Amino acid sequence: MERGREEEASSAGGRGRRRVFSGMQPSGEAHLGNYLGALRQWVELQEEYECFFCVVDEHAITGEFAGEDLPARTLDLAVSFLAVGLDPERCTIFVQSDVPEHVELSWLFNSVTPLGDLERMTQFKDKSSRLESVPAGLLNYPVLQAADILLYRAEVVPVGEDQLQHLELTREIARRWNSRFGSYFPEPEALVSKAGRILGLDGDQKMSKSLDNTVGILADSEEVWARVRTAVTDPQRVKKSDPGRPEVCNVYTLHTHLTDPEKLPDIAHQCRTAQRGCVECKRILAASIDERFAPFRERAAHYRENPDEVVQILEAGAQRARGIARETMREVRGRMGLDWRTALAR
Ligand code: TRP
Repeated sequence: MERGREEEASSAGGRGRRRVFSGMQPSGEAHLGNYLGALRQWVELQEEYECFFCVVDEHAITGEFAGEDLPARTLDLAVSFLAVGLDPERCTIFVQSDVPEHVELSWLFNSVTPLGDLERMTQFKDKSSRLESVPAGLLNYPVLQAADILLYRAEVVPVGEDQLQHLELTREIARRWNSRFGSYFPEPEALVSKAGRILGLDGDQKMSKSLDNTVGILADSEEVWARVRTAVTDPQRVKKSDPGRPEVCNVYTLHTHLTDPEKLPDIAHQCRTAQRGCVECKRILAASIDERFAPFRERAAHYRENPDEVVQILEAGAQRARGIARETMREVRGRMGLDWRTALAR
């Protein structure tokens, strides 16, 4: 579909394409879990929706972080976005801290967010329980997330299952704000990835970089195999001659996400009948991953050689985002009585 001028200029209500917003924390190069759980879906969504994809560096500072590492992590995640095929011609890619309105709106939303709701968030309880001193930012994290989404009045938010509670809170914030200041924000709906919860190569915990149970999307063939080789399979299959159970084997689950679907019945059969050992099965998985990653590596190589191009893409993205953000804030400030000069002049 051609993006006509009319569509660009029209306001939230009359848009042709529905608006999508999603964000990811800048943990550097994306990994297989980010790809299966989010990025793969984002790439598809950009064809049909008006998409905003954001590197949320201001969320990253609510956890442990080092200021000197953050810039590189931000740039590396942006390179990963481009590497998997997010196309700046089709979607808006930008960094959260380049658009100060995110923080401004989150402060205003704090005034309509009950403390009890924030204290009830599973992610907050989880993370705060492991800390001696809990930063207020950790508590207010979901308010900033609500601001991210509602600043663009996005209607659709692709997220993992673990973010459903934050999305429900976003809807609640939109409802409360609307009922006090007049209907303005949509109640965005979550679009949960079909892939479900992706377990790490340890077959036990959520796939994540910090748990070191994954593989980077820009890993070369050798690294892919070095990681996949360590993957945990059906624990009951001790010897190669033991029959395996694909339905409980995480390597098989990963095959279902990454290997040609036509090959799956054979992979399951060879496992059940102990005709193929786990090592060989993992070799096939590594080959599927390697094939998937090959074009990512190629695009990333281009952007690594031309970091200025990435910076330009992010700057253009931020500029577009700021245009919409300013418009929203003008409306919000006005309705909340913060636009006092103009109000008094009337
Ligand atoms: N909290 C999200 C996560 O950890 C990241 C995020 C921040 C986000 N802002 C968002 C996701 C807005 C969707 C929409 O995955």
